[in-house]
Amino acid sequence: MAKKKVCVIKGDDASPEFVIPTVELLEGMNLEIEFFWALTGEEALQKQGKAFPEEARKMVDEADCTLFGSSRNMTGGLGYLRWGKKTYANFRPVKWMKGMRSPLRKPEGIDFVVVRENLEGLYPGREGDIERLEPLKLSDFITGQVLDTSMKGKFAVRVITEENTRNVAKATCDLAMKRKANGGKGKVTVASKYNMLFQSDELFRRIVEETVRQYPELTFDQQVIDNFCQQMIINPQQFDVVVMPNEHGDVMADGAAALVGGLGLAPSACFGKDYAYFEPVHGTAPDLMGKNIVNPTAMILSAKWMLEYLGFEDAALRLERAVYGVYEEGKYLTPDQGGGSSTTQFCKAVKEKL
Ligand code: IPM
Ligand code: MN
Repeated sequence: MAKKKVCVIKGDDASPEFVIPTVELLEGMNLEIEFFWALTGEEALQKQGKAFPEEARKMVDEADCTLFGSSRNMTGGLGYLRWGKKTYANFRPVKWMKGMRSPLRKPEGIDFVVVRENLEGLYPGREGDIERLEPLKLSDFITGQVLDTSMKGKFAVRVITEENTRNVAKATCDLAMKRKANGGKGKVTVASKYNMLFQSDELFRRIVEETVRQYPELTFDQQVIDNFCQQMIINPQQFDVVVMPNEHGDVMADGAAALVGGLGLAPSACFGKDYAYFEPVHGTAPDLMGKNIVNPTAMILSAKWMLEYLGFEDAALRLERAVYGVYEEGKYLTPDQGGGSSTTQFCKAVKEKL
């Protein structure tokens, strides 16, 4: 087998502090992977005058996938990994394991995945002055009133397309099938605001339902997004795979991460038709920079998804078990989990369990 190529983007602020040890862990596993470090973000801006130079783009293109730290915004490569590589399905798994510091009384059995549509909805921002909407003569569905475009203010366009929603729905169902083969519930829930956005969010809901109906082994469930928000707090164990439009998923995934112990634990895996990238859900933690205490779990678990994607399924399982083992043992946890260990000590403990 030819060596797999992974482009690594180490990100801004505290990000390198969890990206570098994660790659060290992977290197220690002696897999047929070659790592290529692309210079982006703040550092690239200072040295090369661009946050995402041509060279970095080439490295992303030539790799089998990208392992991405966290960046301050979209300019350090994240925009390219999403819209340039058309990675429409953003999987954000939420799984509680013993030792994780959940604020819930009964976190046992929480194991679901938020599938965040990654390219449409309200992002990327397409905004403008209200007066530009004048030719559209938009009326609302409740009163039928036409929008007063003489008002000063801004609008944002929210787009849901059929083709993209179908792609996301299919990726969602395939994930639910794969989880079912490993003891999962085989259940897909769609969450959107279809009781208010009768066209766009109803389209999203309907396409997910139609897609799930093509998988006889899966069951379908729908929840209005605000109801989902409370359901995920009072009974998160009911969920298996929950798919939602972009900005809903952005918000809900952070809330869902909080259920099991916070953003330090929340990985993600983003897939398109022919590319994938893997990043923690959290940001660059500038307040923790230089302290060697940032929790690398989200990054390591993102890397676990990457190993699976690259075909190293056994190694992926091993890595995941090692991380969970460290939580179960509870001796080398970072401060966000109530421990007193550094990032380095946590990673060393994972390495020993490997
Ligand atoms: C995320 C992040 C990004 C997003 C930011 C950095 C633009 O919050 O991946 O969830 O909103 O997509
Ligand atoms: Mn976010």
